[in-house]
Amino acid sequence: MAATTSPPDALHLESLTRVFTPRGKAPVTALDGVDLRLPAGGVHGLLGPNGAGKTTLCKIACTVLLPTSGRASVLGFDVVRDAAEVRREIGIVFGGERGLYGRLSARENLEFWCAMHGLGRRETRTRVSALLDRLGLADRADSLVETFSRGMKQRVHLARGLVADPPLLLLDEPTVGMDPVSAHDFRALVGELRTEGRTVVLTTHDMAEAESVCDTVTFVDHGRVVGTGTPGDVRGLLARGSRIRVHDVADARALAGPLDLPGVLTTHDPARRTLDVDVEGGQDVVGQVMAAILAAGHTSVTAGPPSLEEVYLGLLGTDGDGNRRGMRVGS
Ligand SMILES: Nc1ncnc2c1ncn2[C@@H]1O[C@H](COP(=O)(O)OP(=O)(O)OP(=O)(O)O)[C@@H](O)[C@H]1O
Ligand SMILES: [Mg+2]
Repeated sequence: MAATTSPPDALHLESLTRVFTPRGKAPVTALDGVDLRLPAGGVHGLLGPNGAGKTTLCKIACTVLLPTSGRASVLGFDVVRDAAEVRREIGIVFGGERGLYGRLSARENLEFWCAMHGLGRRETRTRVSALLDRLGLADRADSLVETFSRGMKQRVHLARGLVADPPLLLLDEPTVGMDPVSAHDFRALVGELRTEGRTVVLTTHDMAEAESVCDTVTFVDHGRVVGTGTPGDVRGLLARGSRIRVHDVADARALAGPLDLPGVLTTHDPARRTLDVDVEGGQDVVGQVMAAILAAGHTSVTAGPPSLEEVYLGLLGTDGDGNRRGMRVGS
């Protein structure tokens, strides 16, 4: 019987380390032995605070930076040994002002990138028009990019990432500077890219964005992966039970006694007048907690898993001893 081989991962990192050694300064470890597998297909989010190492990771994946040690491969191609193949497979979108030619129009920028990818004149014309349409840039296609707003430049970046029709897209903070409507359209576009069978890896600081578009999320902090899995897995593990939110609680003292139960943690937010009750036990404890809340006269209650933002804060915040928390979801 023929051996079955699984398709290569979109991104496979093994003990990946990157150290920067600025002249005259102490070395900075931007990535510190990262092990990570992101399967081909779907949308994968990289989340983490400023300086966590997300951009460094993206730059190594697209061969802009070399690893200091360890290995990284993209769709089965090694970023060092097979750099040319990796570049063929990947479309990159690093936001900001760099990488676009301000004195050229949006159309000319894209034509330039088509030429860089060796596309013929006819193919260039159709592809550029289709991308300008797709990114909502058709009516400004012939204006100089230097006259564009930040969000419009961001859309030109995105179009540029799609010029070569790559199976994998790396987007570093793609919606920075976009207004809510553009960001919403962008998320719809990411959904389309997924439907087309592409893999999208994106970094974002926007938890709602990660929640709405990502099939997996990976939390990075201090150059290490501190949690990875589907948003549901990540939420489930953090919650390890249930969260009940009681609304309109100006003073939580009346509930302090009844909720002083093993495995029950309460957090009162006087400004929002909410009391969050995290219950680590089974349904019997949840029942006891609900009974105590209702007995105290509180009827405005919501229950459910924590949001991705709460997971983020739980994972990347500090525990009571000032130590970083960490966990791994799945394999
Ligand atoms: N060229 C460089 N020279 C020296 N240090 C660098 C360089 N590039 C990045 N670093 C450092 O590496 C660490 C990781 O930076 P990186 O840009 O990857 O973080 P990030 O997660 O993308 O942060 P942000 O959310 O702010 O974009 C930081 O401490 C940063 O200062
Ligand atoms: Mg960054």
